[in-house]
Amino acid sequence: MTVGYSATIGPLCQDSTILANYNQSLVSNKSTAQNNPEYTQLEIRYFNDNDREPLLEFAGTVQADNPKDSQSRSQQLGEVLRQPGFTPETSCLILEENDSIAGYCIVFSEKLIQRAVLAVDVQTDLEASETESKLIRSGLELAKNEGAGVAHICLGSQTPRASMLEDVGFHKIRTYLHMLWNDETPPLMKIPPEYSVNIFTPQDTQKLTDIQNAAFTGSWGFCPNTTEEIEYRTNMSNTRHECIVFLEDETGVVGYCWGCLGPNEGRTRGIISMIGINPRYRGKGLSQIILAAGINKLNELALDGISLHVDSSNTPAIKLYKSIGFHELDKLYWYEYTF
Ligand SMILES: CC(C)(COP(=O)(O)OP(=O)(O)OC[C@H]1O[C@@H](n2cnc3c(N)ncnc32)[C@H](O)[C@@H]1OP(=O)(O)O)[C@@H](O)C(=O)NCCC(=O)NCCS
Repeated sequence: MTVGYSATIGPLCQDSTILANYNQSLVSNKSTAQNNPEYTQLEIRYFNDNDREPLLEFAGTVQADNPKDSQSRSQQLGEVLRQPGFTPETSCLILEENDSIAGYCIVFSEKLIQRAVLAVDVQTDLEASETESKLIRSGLELAKNEGAGVAHICLGSQTPRASMLEDVGFHKIRTYLHMLWNDETPPLMKIPPEYSVNIFTPQDTQKLTDIQNAAFTGSWGFCPNTTEEIEYRTNMSNTRHECIVFLEDETGVVGYCWGCLGPNEGRTRGIISMIGINPRYRGKGLSQIILAAGINKLNELALDGISLHVDSSNTPAIKLYKSIGFHELDKLYWYEYTF
């Protein structure tokens, strides 16, 4: 099944901070859908706690076409809605059609870098419709009121939504590659004697936060993480502590690889969610060692391959992934709206 929007609500994709000063009057009131022969009552409104269960069920249904994947998608969204600093009541818009959920738009406000990421889903017959475009415009208003300078949405490759986004005022800004590793034999990598590979334990939360921020600060779309956020994410259902590995020398952490699990057509696929080398240690060929360690840990869980997303302009990362046996499956496109 093709998901129109890429799953931008993944736990490591974005930060969110407590949203304040939101102008309630910006969200549209009830209206009748255009081009619909039957009278349809549509409303875009804020999330309230009664929406939680129906919203999770809706997201699971539109994002997957089998019960196992649906359940996993619902669970992940539930965890995202409960993450520290995130308030769905002010950051999630519900599209309601005749009193049932027909779509949603979650606005992840990343105040430190003045951007917002929009995660949108609508029922199939509303894809790329005027109604979906209205929902996105409402999300943009919310993002603007939160002080965002830009808003981003990620689109999968097989979706009719590109021209709708362009009509709203978005333009394509980045291409990401979706890559898969499914070799029979896990990579063998010799660890030089001055380094060791160590597995994350809950006492390492600060260490993990520090290396993630050190490795990714300055990367496109990365918003530095707090220790509280990292602690929460390490305990989400898609993470196993043993799949977070550090490369260390006598001075401390040199690099890390954070593997996650995701649903894939009724099976579980590994995901290289984050991998980074401390800038002071780059260019020494260390990334292969830590990626191999991460793959080996995920591989012990007997998964249906291991996938990742990478910016097509990130040459060292793409070289690294290809050298270990990843190949391109398809592309994802990030769209930007500038306020
Ligand atoms: C991606 C990353 C982990 C790679 O680690 P690194 O220490 O920079 O790279 P390595 O020395 O291990 O080399 C990996 C490959 O990239 C090449 N490379 C390294 N730096 C390069 C550069 N500046 N330009 C072009 N190629 C480069 C190396 O030659 C090697 O390719 P080869 O095996 O064909 O010779 C590291 O750059 C990083 O942490 N980047 C920021 C976080 C990030 O982008 N993570 C990936 C997210 S998907």
